[in-house]
Amino acid sequence: MKVLIPPIKCQGIKSKLVKWIDETRQWDNKGVWIEPFMGSGVVGFNLKPRKALFCDTNPHLISFYQGINSGAITPIVVREFLESEGAQLAKHGADYYYQVRKRFNTEKSPLDFLFLNRACFNGLIRFNRKGGFNVPFGHKPERFSKAYVTKIANQVEWVAKRASLSDWTFLHQDFRTTLSCATGNDLIYCDPPYAGRHTDYFNTWKAAHEKLLYQNLKTTKAQFILSTWHSNEHRENPAILKLWSEFNVITREHFYHVGAKESNRKPMLEALVTNFEPAAPTSRKNTGELDSYAADTLQLRFIRQNQQSTDSQKNFPPEERE
Ligand SMILES: C[S@@+](CC[C@H](N)C(=O)[O-])C[C@H]1O[C@@H](n2cnc3c(N)ncnc32)[C@H](O)[C@@H]1O
Repeated sequence: MKVLIPPIKCQGIKSKLVKWIDETRQWDNKGVWIEPFMGSGVVGFNLKPRKALFCDTNPHLISFYQGINSGAITPIVVREFLESEGAQLAKHGADYYYQVRKRFNTEKSPLDFLFLNRACFNGLIRFNRKGGFNVPFGHKPERFSKAYVTKIANQVEWVAKRASLSDWTFLHQDFRTTLSCATGNDLIYCDPPYAGRHTDYFNTWKAAHEKLLYQNLKTTKAQFILSTWHSNEHRENPAILKLWSEFNVITREHFYHVGAKESNRKPMLEALVTNFEPAAPTSRKNTGELDSYAADTLQLRFIRQNQQSTDSQKNFPPEERE
């Protein structure tokens, strides 16, 4: 499966997990694919559900995709916009970036949001307490080369085509509202922010939010797959033991880089939590990512051994410090 990247990128984009999620799901595509934390949308867009509900609390992501769905944002519109804004950026550099940022914070145009997402520092999406986008310039005035603009226009074309061939809805709403729509035929894919790590205007996630998510998913009639982290070299995710271990937990090891040095390659165990028996993995090619199904078994045993002691803790963890 070739995984395509959508036009708007975000922190925690799960492009590397799409194939694993695809292999894990056991779903007949008869109901609705529900994604309460759509972010970039990379998972659902690549798995092509017939009918889907993509939601997020970030209104700018949602209005961008509503624009694609309505036909207001097309590959031609995006190309023309990025060509002209890119030329201004090349001419005036950082000053122009900050001019667009100011304009976006007043007018909230989804095209400006796309421009900022591709011109800002590291493609971050971050808002201040008043809801203003506050990521600094990425220091690349020549960013919008012809090839780069074509690449983004092609990404828009890909999503627009898939959306037009399917029945996809994009809504700006909290995960609780989204989950309340789920029925027994649906598959929910949840990828909440990591607790304690994110705090901004549209994206705050604490242990109390994770607990609410757990309560909602525990009672849903739909199938669900939750993405979360299991452990890294320093610590384990406490929510796995406290909340998620009553479901199926499968893990896979990934490596990420801190800085440019090869010696700074750090392991991270990603987890998928499901309320159904996950499909057995298919071929295990050496992709540079170390699969860890042997480790899974050990970890699950560890989790289940500890479960008795944590059942009494189901009164939930204390709030994490911000
Ligand atoms: C880790 S990102 C999702 C990444 C996505 N799966 C991807 O691959 O691009 C989490 C998303 O949850 C959204 N979010 C945060 N709090 C939320 C809430 N209470 N309800 C719905 N969405 C929320 C954030 O705006 C962010 O886009």
